[in-house]
Amino acid sequence: MRLPIILATLATLATLPSLLASPFPLKSFSHRLETRSNTTKSYCPGHPAPEGYQRELFFAFINDLYVKKDVIGAFDTYIAENLIEHDPFDAQGRAANAAKLANIIPYVPSTVLRMSFDNNVGLAHVRVNQANKEPIALADIYRMDGTCIVEHWDVTQSRPANATNPIAMF
Ligand SMILES: *[C@@H]1O[C@H](CO)[C@@H](O)[C@H](O)[C@H]1NC(C)=O
Ligand SMILES: *[C@@H]1O[C@H](CO)[C@@H](O)[C@H](O)[C@H]1NC(C)=O
Repeated sequence: MRLPIILATLATLATLPSLLASPFPLKSFSHRLETRSNTTKSYCPGHPAPEGYQRELFFAFINDLYVKKDVIGAFDTYIAENLIEHDPFDAQGRAANAAKLANIIPYVPSTVLRMSFDNNVGLAHVRVNQANKEPIALADIYRMDGTCIVEHWDVTQSRPANATNPIAMF
């Protein structure tokens, strides 16, 4: 049974400190969270949604993932159980990827530099800081099917010592 509930003031207040730290304060947390079982609130499996609504969900996912660093919550809420994962070092599916990232993202300082969403595809450009090393540039690309994130690609780059372009990576 779908039981639409309104995620409003409470969620907004709870995330306010991290939102203030984010370069991308979200405009609205008033979107509906679908309850598809009695234990898990999720936007998956997806149902049709206007692009503006998809964009809002995608930005909220990235905010939960990289700003709040609530990896398990972000994956349970926004990611398909049978996520198609293209990173050659990752497994398929939501559970495996959530478990892996939950051991990384909360412990690694990162900054979301920009995000966009168009034609079912969302992009997040992230600076991942490393102790005593050049930061890594990460591009996360996610495809949505309606309200649900169903597929992921990523591309990473570090600045090599013999870089020939004098311009900073960020
Ligand atoms: C939740 O759903 C599961 C599986 O359908 C069921 O076994 C359980 O009794 C339910 N719990 C509640 C509190 O309704
Ligand atoms: C930079 O260093 C790497 C590793 O030594 C080498 O493979 C690459 O060819 C170098 N690139 C340039 C542009 O010098």
